[in-house]
Amino acid sequence: MNERNPRAVKQRLQSLADAGVQSLPKRGRTATARPAEAVAKSAPPRAAAMPPAGDAADRIRSLAILRQQVVDCTQCTELAATRTQTVFGVGRPDARLCFFGEAPGADEDASGEPFVGRAGQLLTKIIEACTLSRDDVYILNVLKCRPPGNRVPLPDEVANCRRFFERQFATIAPEFICCLGTTAAQSLLQTDEPIGKLRRRWFTYGSAQVICTYHPSYLLRNPAAKRDVWDDMKLLMAKMGLPVPE
Ligand code: URA
Repeated sequence: MNERNPRAVKQRLQSLADAGVQSLPKRGRTATARPAEAVAKSAPPRAAAMPPAGDAADRIRSLAILRQQVVDCTQCTELAATRTQTVFGVGRPDARLCFFGEAPGADEDASGEPFVGRAGQLLTKIIEACTLSRDDVYILNVLKCRPPGNRVPLPDEVANCRRFFERQFATIAPEFICCLGTTAAQSLLQTDEPIGKLRRRWFTYGSAQVICTYHPSYLLRNPAAKRDVWDDMKLLMAKMGLPVPE
């Protein structure tokens, strides 16, 4: 990018925003940026099909290409016919932590950004309670299109979207993934164990350590379960080396 040309900078930032990138890595290390030595140490031996994550600019480019493929996808004919737009994902392209939800709802379908409705506002509070902000993490869903009436995603729909979320994770290469609710946890871990049995345990997905917790929508219906989610977040923060509030 020609940093002296304001129009070029604006266009570049708009194209990054279109790609779902809302914040760019700061120069130098931040509390949540991945330490270079951690990348080197944790860099997994990747499967041949998985391209290496690359630097921030590579990740931004890869996510922009992938986002366009999602925009163009009509594989699930019902979802493609009923969506307002696709909802790709948002956040740092080199986030240490990804939050993985189920599918866009009405608010997300209208805005194009995941977790912006009531459940999203609760997720933002959860992220902030973990001493992080939405800009520090990456937020994505299993499905990129809203299922009509917010029904649970069908197995075929999850199968069709798998290549997209798998490539998002391969590109971002997070150290941690937090699955929000049954659909996210079961889709990522390819299990049919219920969410109650998947909580409080650590799993691996590629090089990421995975924790599962209840979906924020469930918390809106069952506020008593907030305590369980906070317990899960404390496990996550401790594992990430973040200060855990009492
Ligand atoms: N629920 C989800 O799982 N994802 C969203 O983006 C919004 C609500």
